[in-house]
Amino acid sequence: MEPTIRPATIDDVPRIARAAVETVLHARRQGSDPYVQGLPDGDSEPLREWAARFTGGGTQGALVLESASGEFIGCACLAIGSGAMPEALAGRTGTVALLWVAERHRGRGLGRALVRAAEDWFADRDIRHVELSWLAVNADAERFWKRMGYAPFRTHGWKRTG
Ligand SMILES: CC(C)(COP(=O)(O)OP(=O)(O)OC[C@H]1O[C@@H](n2cnc3c(N)ncnc32)[C@H](O)[C@@H]1OP(=O)(O)O)[C@@H](O)C(=O)NCCC(=O)NCCS
Repeated sequence: MEPTIRPATIDDVPRIARAAVETVLHARRQGSDPYVQGLPDGDSEPLREWAARFTGGGTQGALVLESASGEFIGCACLAIGSGAMPEALAGRTGTVALLWVAERHRGRGLGRALVRAAEDWFADRDIRHVELSWLAVNADAERFWKRMGYAPFRTHGWKRTG
């Protein structure tokens, strides 16, 4: 049987938090910079709190990709709010905050299926403008998102000021 996609529940929070960590580790395997070095690379309460926000309903949501045997093998974290140009699309922008598929399940269309489900989740809420970002070192993510039809439109910069 094919994996299925379902809404996340509070019980999924530890695995969603772990998926965020796995995404950081995946980025670090491709390169490193001080920003990436500063990201959480292990379980932490703030990370779980971040993940929990997507399971509370309202303008945030999370989708879980589940194998036929009930294993958590991927997820997408979604939010509706302001985009990078808030005046233009205030409250009407969908953001994909995280997209992750377990390593051994990659390369067989499951990431694409999650993206499609995420876009449907937004469309069901009348959101047709979706934004997302990837870490500069995560060249895999850049290739994937471009393949999914997402075009870069803004470059983020940062520095530590104290
Ligand atoms: C990005 C990720 C979700 C892709 O999942 P996946 O299940 O392997 O993706 P799919 O098999 O659905 O691939 C969809 C398309 O993207 C392409 N693609 C996927 N990963 C790619 C890569 N690293 N380089 C180039 N193309 C890639 C596939 O070839 C496929 O194209 P096609 O359908 O035209 O043949 C997965 O690799 C992942 O979880 N990575 C770690 C977390 C991460 O970096 N997430 C993104 C940043 S938030």
